[in-house]
Amino acid sequence: MGGRVGSELIGKRVAFLGAGKMGGIILQALLKHGLLTSKSTCATVAHEERAKSLAAKLKVKVGTNNADAAKGADIIVIAVKPQVVEEVVREIAHNLTPKQLIVSVAASVPTAMIEKNLPTRVPVVRAMPNTPCLMGAGMTAICKGKYASQGHVALTCHMFDVVGRTVVVDEKHMDAVTALSASGPAYIYIILESLAEAGVKVGLPRDIATLLAAQTALGAAKVVLETGDHPALLKDAVTTPAGCTIDAIMELEEGKLRVTLIKAVVKAAQRAKELAFG
Ligand SMILES: NC(=O)c1ccc[n+]([C@@H]2O[C@H](COP(=O)([O-])OP(=O)(O)OC[C@H]3O[C@@H](n4cnc5c(N)ncnc54)[C@H](OP(=O)(O)O)[C@@H]3O)[C@@H](O)[C@H]2O)c1
Repeated sequence: MGGRVGSELIGKRVAFLGAGKMGGIILQALLKHGLLTSKSTCATVAHEERAKSLAAKLKVKVGTNNADAAKGADIIVIAVKPQVVEEVVREIAHNLTPKQLIVSVAASVPTAMIEKNLPTRVPVVRAMPNTPCLMGAGMTAICKGKYASQGHVALTCHMFDVVGRTVVVDEKHMDAVTALSASGPAYIYIILESLAEAGVKVGLPRDIATLLAAQTALGAAKVVLETGDHPALLKDAVTTPAGCTIDAIMELEEGKLRVTLIKAVVKAAQRAKELAFG
């Protein structure tokens, strides 16, 4: 309690199976914060060459044998592509014990799918992070499987607190989370790109337009998070009667920005459900 973020992880041995973009981000953040050490950490990838270069870069043991990596680890983070998860779980299954914890970040892979491929009641926790974890500004939703305890959930939260914010949800919400916060950075980048383009259209140099757009998004998000105020109220405070903002809002309404964003998230959630590996 009250210790530094993630300190509960100190001393734990962690294996990252699939140290690609997402696995790599989390692994590097935990090493950088001193919560894992080169000795307590190992990772796997698919290609020998990448294993060699990653080992040299991170100064941790990186191989291609998942069973070896999982053996003796306290926490096994599965960060391979969703379609590879079952194969990886089968490779490691015979070595696992209920004292270990599996944390999967794979989209559309239910905890039940992992559990059913394991011979014993190994606890499984599912996490859905996003790429801003790279900057310590990620959003990760976490849910537990059948055999995981609140302690396992708390430990997983500590792991992802290091790379941003965490929230615990029921597993039934994971497709919605995937559609909103895991895919979300892509939507925001499109909005930022468009705002920067707009800045260029009204005469600003592109670099300044991009800076204005990005810092404005960051600032507005910070205000929502820190005040807890409803975004509509905050919008009203920017909107002077007969001023400029209301003219812009009319254009946004006419262009159906709101309904388009809502429909985009609904579609992504449907797709996450369709892709579910069972
Ligand atoms: N990217 C995101 O925004 C995001 C957000 C939330 C969740 N996720 C989830 O994170 C997982 C990984 O996504 P990613 O974007 O990080 O993909 P990625 O960059 O392609 O990483 C996948 C990694 O898995 C390795 N790999 C493939 N087969 C393997 C095997 N049999 N054993 C061990 N390692 C193996 C690959 O090795 P090589 O490098 O040698 O090919 C690669 O390093 C996915 O399940 C995805 O749903 C991603």
